[in-house]
Amino acid sequence: MSLIQSLRAFKKHIPGGENIKYSVQLLYSIYYLPSGGHPDKHPNRPPMKRLFFSIALFTFIISMSNLSFSQPVAAKDQNLKLDRGVNIIGYDKAFWQDHTKGRFKESYFKMIKDAGFSTVRVNLHPFSQMDSQHLISPLWLQTLDWVVDKGLEANLMIILDLHEFTAMADNPEAKKEMFLSFWKQVAPRYKDKSDKVLFELLNEPNQKLTVEMWNTFLAEAVKIIRETNPYRTLIIGPGNWNGIESLNTLKLPENDRNIIVTVHFYHPMRFTHQGAAWANEYRNLSGIQWTGTPEEKEEVESKLRVAADWSLKNDRPLFLGEFGAYDKGDMDSRSRYTAFVARTAEKLGFSWAYWQFDSDFIVYDIEKETWVKSILNALIDKKD
Ligand code: BGC
Repeated sequence: MSLIQSLRAFKKHIPGGENIKYSVQLLYSIYYLPSGGHPDKHPNRPPMKRLFFSIALFTFIISMSNLSFSQPVAAKDQNLKLDRGVNIIGYDKAFWQDHTKGRFKESYFKMIKDAGFSTVRVNLHPFSQMDSQHLISPLWLQTLDWVVDKGLEANLMIILDLHEFTAMADNPEAKKEMFLSFWKQVAPRYKDKSDKVLFELLNEPNQKLTVEMWNTFLAEAVKIIRETNPYRTLIIGPGNWNGIESLNTLKLPENDRNIIVTVHFYHPMRFTHQGAAWANEYRNLSGIQWTGTPEEKEEVESKLRVAADWSLKNDRPLFLGEFGAYDKGDMDSRSRYTAFVARTAEKLGFSWAYWQFDSDFIVYDIEKETWVKSILNALIDKKD
């Protein structure tokens, strides 16, 4: 095996080894570069080929040393990279049949990046796409490949979020096999993908999927994923809808430090979910404002601080995976609230993802092909 072949094999088998791909390619092409920069013409300069080769070698050595330091990636560093994100494609049914016919278009990946987001949290509903053996339809998986590749091309971090929380909450025992089967198929499929791809085990475990049951389900899923993805960063949240109040019930594998913990935040619900048809208690409410009084701010801050204290105590970085206020509230209140939650989360060191790009709570209006400016500006306060 030649040096180049060995390096290629190395790259293939070491997760994140693709970091060295470019310097290997550079070395390879320069090795075969014709000699240039004749020494007689430029007596004080080394021949061009030797100079290029030295630069490439230097780049290679640097990338190799980065490699050894970054394996496995640290959850804290990954969380810094998640930074500011947005939830995408969850309820775009046509998209999952044929991505060219969905609402979400390829150009949106770059547009999201250019608007100032670093991350997309892709909300996945694969259960209806499974056959009797729980095998996911090849077409659905190909669509997911496309999402991952296009997201990476746009230089985004990509969270694959299993969003089957309703099915899991209704009958967790019956659905457990589907839950584990999903990760048995998805984890090996993306095992060689960039470390910019993260796996989020399950959105908002709730109701019959109790906190105790969730702790056992998640431990099994982590074990399955780690067989093929020893260095993949995972995202896991507590039961009771990823509520901050339930963080203390969450049991994670103690020695697995490549985990980011997620919580969701919609307090006060009577403001954020006023008029929301799916929220029984709040569906008939309207006209509730959020003016940013000291009391309102303190309510948000004190709850988020509970999460920050937990994070510090347990040495687990935090990702606020969903927050926002439903479209029925007045826009001024919604923007004010959204900005305050985002800035408070940042102050406390959390990364975040806004709920959501399209469908409801929208930050982008697909019909008009334009950003909802007040929500976008609330989220992205142009930092340097
Ligand atoms: C659910 C959405 C819901 C949102 C806010 C998400 O986790 O998937 O259906 O609109 O939470 O309630």
